[in-house]
Amino acid sequence: MPEYVDYAEYYDSDHNSQVDVGFYLGFARQCGSPILELACGTGRLVIPLAEAGFKVYGVDLSESMLAVCRRKVEERHLADRVHLTLANMADFALSHQDFALAYIPVRSFMHLFTQRDQLSCLQRVHDHLRPGGYFIVDVYAPHFGILAQAPNGPFVVRREFNLPNGHHVIRKDRFVNNDIVNQIQHCELRFEEYDTTGVLVRERTVPMDTRYAFRYELQLLLGRVGFEVIDIFRDYAKNPYDGTGEIIAVARRP
Ligand SMILES: C[S@@+](CC[C@H](N)C(=O)[O-])C[C@H]1O[C@@H](n2cnc3c(N)ncnc32)[C@H](O)[C@@H]1O
Repeated sequence: MPEYVDYAEYYDSDHNSQVDVGFYLGFARQCGSPILELACGTGRLVIPLAEAGFKVYGVDLSESMLAVCRRKVEERHLADRVHLTLANMADFALSHQDFALAYIPVRSFMHLFTQRDQLSCLQRVHDHLRPGGYFIVDVYAPHFGILAQAPNGPFVVRREFNLPNGHHVIRKDRFVNNDIVNQIQHCELRFEEYDTTGVLVRERTVPMDTRYAFRYELQLLLGRVGFEVIDIFRDYAKNPYDGTGEIIAVARRP
C-alpha cells in the first residue's frame, strides 16, 4: 500500500473526523472485548476504544501508519489494551480467534481490488470471530453521479488543515477515471504544504484507488463466507440505506 507511506504524516490532521466514533463505541459496548479493527491506520478509532476500556487488536498493511498509532499507544499508556500487527487484511492470521466484534471502517475494504482478496478478507474475519460475534464493514454507495464523472478532472480544493509544526496544508483531489470493468475509481490527492511564512515547502500527489461494491454485491460477499447480514445503514446515525452516503453493513457470525 505505497500511497499511505506518503500520507501517514498528514493523516491525523486531514482526518480528524469523529463522526463514526460513537457508532463503533456503541457496538463495542454491545459486544465487549476483544475487538479487531482491520486497516486500523494511525488508530483514529483504536485509541478512543482502548481509552474506553476495550481490548483492541489492530491490523494494517502500512508500517508508517502503524508507527503513528504505536506512538499514540505509548503516549497514552495503552500498551496493555492495544495490540498492533503489520499484515494484509486479505491474508492475516492472529493467535487470538475469539473476537466479539470486528470492523473495517471508513471505506478501507475498498482498497481490496479483486473479489478473491475481498472474499479472502471476509473469510478470515469470519474465522477470527466467536459464534455470535459482530462484523461491520463500511463502503461508499456508488451512485451514478460519481461514476459518470468525466475523466481527467481538475484538482479541486477539498480541505485545508494545519500540521502540529504549524505548517499549513491544502489538499486538492482529482478524479482520474472510472474503470467500470473492474469497478475501480482512480483518484489523486495532492497535498501542498506551506511553512509558517507561507512558502511552499513540499508538494506531493498520492494515488487513491477504490474498488466500489454495490449493496447486494456486498451482501452476497458477506453471505458467501457465512455471515448473516443484520442491517444496512446509510450513515452512523443508523438511518437505513437509501442509495446515497455510505453502505454500512452490520453482520453476525451465526
Ligand atoms: C482510510 S485509512 C483508515 C484508517 C483508520 N481505520 C481510520 O479509521 O482512520 C485506510 C487504511 O487502510 C490500510 N490498508 C489499505 N489496504 C490494506 C490492506 N490490504 N490490508 C491492511 N490494511 C490496508 C492503509 O494502510 C490505511 O491505514
